[in-house]
Amino acid sequence: MELILEVKDLNVSFETYAGEVQAVRGISFQLREGETLAIVGESGSGKSVSVQSILKLIPSPPSKLKSGEIVYKGQDLTRLSDKAMEAIRGKEISMIFQDPMSSLNPTMKVGKQIIEGIRKHEGLSTKEARKRAAEMLRLVGIPDYETNMDRYPHQFSGGMRQRVMIAIALACNSKILLADEPTTALDVTMQAQILQLMNDLKDKLKTAIVLITHDLGVVAQMADRIAVMYAGKIVETGTAEDIFYRPKHPYTWGLLESVPSYEKRSGKRLAAIPGSPPDLFAPPPGCAFAARCKYCMHICKTAEPVLAAVDGAHQAACWLLDPRAPQVAPPVIKSHRKQEGGGEHV
Ligand SMILES: Nc1ncnc2c1ncn2[C@@H]1O[C@H](COP(=O)(O)OP(=O)(O)OP(=O)(O)O)[C@@H](O)[C@H]1O
Ligand SMILES: [Mg+2]
Repeated sequence: MELILEVKDLNVSFETYAGEVQAVRGISFQLREGETLAIVGESGSGKSVSVQSILKLIPSPPSKLKSGEIVYKGQDLTRLSDKAMEAIRGKEISMIFQDPMSSLNPTMKVGKQIIEGIRKHEGLSTKEARKRAAEMLRLVGIPDYETNMDRYPHQFSGGMRQRVMIAIALACNSKILLADEPTTALDVTMQAQILQLMNDLKDKLKTAIVLITHDLGVVAQMADRIAVMYAGKIVETGTAEDIFYRPKHPYTWGLLESVPSYEKRSGKRLAAIPGSPPDLFAPPPGCAFAARCKYCMHICKTAEPVLAAVDGAHQAACWLLDPRAPQVAPPVIKSHRKQEGGGEHV
């Protein structure tokens, strides 16, 4: 499949009264047509900042793109004017936010919001746009367009609002969908339906998806490839199989271990990795995970490991992969991919 987006060495900081927060510290990734890349990692690891930077959605100041390129179809988005960016947003690249109310206009009827989005980018007549809007709502599982288009967002349930937002996000056949915790606010049944819907649309429209989620069950169900972020960096990346079955980074081991098995899942808190991430005002000189790592060696505190090839596109940034390092047996991790065998979702 064709390469559609390439993020190269992206560095994003925030200027605060207390100093510079280095939120994203040199991440690179590629996205191909029709594939889903999941970005996982603890709170504060830079997932949202990375993805929002693609569409320049973070105000500057306080944010600052320190360096990097975001190449979409051969053009570097970081160099585009606000006006040129406006034409990309929603049309070429769309975003689903965690909270649908933050992106829907509460004072405008739902049908009108979808039609406006379509007209703005596609230059269709109202009649054509209306037909398209009805089709999109049907695709996302909101039938009876004639009745529903005249409703306001608050007249829909949370799950329906999410669907409306997805319909808007996909109404212009965007090439890329950025989904930041798209289903966290939903109950399990609705979550499964929305994810199924995203997968269907990906198959139908060849949309590439960047999916941010805390939920490794969702990742297992959705992702072709995974990037594991820690303290503003990608510390491991590979296919879903690489990450779930052959993880190499102790942080990835910790993340996989911290998900309770399916039987125990109901309502129990995740067992967190002991310790907390480093201060992004002054990241440590060596590996950012060293202070929490069971396998920490002397070098981990002094020199930073680079993201290096494990096998194929599987890469990890860990000194344990150095040929001189002692051999460490990874912990036994229960499978998250139960749904591969049967229909079980998250
Ligand atoms: N406006 C801001 N000013 C200062 N620092 C910020 C700002 N927005 C984000 N940050 C910092 O940038 C870092 C990355 O934040 P980001 O929101 O990308 O994390 P995340 O991985 O999406 O976390 P979560 O899983 O909680 O959504 C964090 O340390 C955060 O405190
Ligand atoms: Mg976030």
